[in-house]
Amino acid sequence: MAYDVESIRGDFPILERKVNNRPLVYFDSGATAQKPEVVINTTARLMRECNANIHRGVHHLSGAMTAMYEEARETVRRFIGAEHKEEVVFTAGATASINLVAYAWSARNLREGDNIVVSEMEHHSNIVPWQLAAERYGAELRVLPFDDRGELRVDMLGSLIDNRTRLVAVTEASNTLGTVPNLEPIIAASHAVGAKVMVDGCQGIVHGGGKVKERDYDFYAFSGHKLYAPTGIGVLYGKRELLEAMPPFMGGGDMVDKVTFAKTTYAPLPLKFEAGTSNFIGAVGLAEAIKYVEGIGMESIEQHEMILLDAMTERLSRIEGLRIYGTAKRKCPIVSFTIDGTHPYDVGMILDKLGIAIRTGHHCAEPVMTHFGVTGMCRASIGMYNTLAEVEALAAGVERAVMMLK
Ligand code: ALA
Repeated sequence: MAYDVESIRGDFPILERKVNNRPLVYFDSGATAQKPEVVINTTARLMRECNANIHRGVHHLSGAMTAMYEEARETVRRFIGAEHKEEVVFTAGATASINLVAYAWSARNLREGDNIVVSEMEHHSNIVPWQLAAERYGAELRVLPFDDRGELRVDMLGSLIDNRTRLVAVTEASNTLGTVPNLEPIIAASHAVGAKVMVDGCQGIVHGGGKVKERDYDFYAFSGHKLYAPTGIGVLYGKRELLEAMPPFMGGGDMVDKVTFAKTTYAPLPLKFEAGTSNFIGAVGLAEAIKYVEGIGMESIEQHEMILLDAMTERLSRIEGLRIYGTAKRKCPIVSFTIDGTHPYDVGMILDKLGIAIRTGHHCAEPVMTHFGVTGMCRASIGMYNTLAEVEALAAGVERAVMMLK
């Protein structure tokens, strides 16, 4: 093992609980990850001891909270490898981040006859906002397909991207297939025609994602809650010149410079995009989560998770009638599967009775289901705290489900 997983498990209080009288086996970190004690304690302590609105008061608590919020922004900047702090906008989550770009950026950059390319393996949150934008401005939505292993068909880029392509939306790691696509050729082809690239980092940020400047992402979105941070806090990264050229998305407090009935001017970046009271406690919680995973080491976490991914893939593959979707060369630790003659929902229900949590359904990626001609899949997603014994418990649980359902 790459590290002492038992000691890491001790940091996550929820892992001590039982579900249906069985020890909890949590394989749904792709939906939301569990929270380490340090994140839970920090957010609770801030609410007890330091709660005050940011950027708005001369009083001590407001100043202290503002300083922590802005430190959290710096922690995120460093973690994702952005050059400037103003390029980091706090949002409610990745969906809010992508919608922000789809509204504000599109307003200045999308015209009738333009096109947007999205990959076939995107989560709905990196499809629907672009569909809405395309409808608003009379643009075309084009789809970059994947092959049956779950690799993006980069060989088709030439026929999809042209000089009317304004933006390409693509995931850093598929939430359903686990594919970690090589984004380099996609970014190169996009930039060659002046198109921007929106990268969905929801799953990627937990598994080697980010490095936004080095990888030349134009926009990058992720949610805190999959990175062991609280819900309701997320990040939008955008290159400074792109964010500067965009109009505000939401109007309200904190995003203005001067307001009169005749004219309002806006606050500089990043506050221009942070209307209303931000989730300042969540932002500090996110920074704590980042420091926590960094303290353990992103590479050690990845090594550990890859061992589990290989073991899970190998063990589940041995079950008769079980089909795994997504066998790309580079994968994040996600295994989606169906079993002949069973419904994913029924498998999920039986596993739940055994205390095992997986996700079932279309995983907010219906085009992936359509590609494979299924209505749903089971998905086991691995977190830093999972163990090989849990992989075995899952496989044994699946075998039991098969016996009961067939
Ligand atoms: N986007 C989350 C998932 O993939 C909820 O499960």
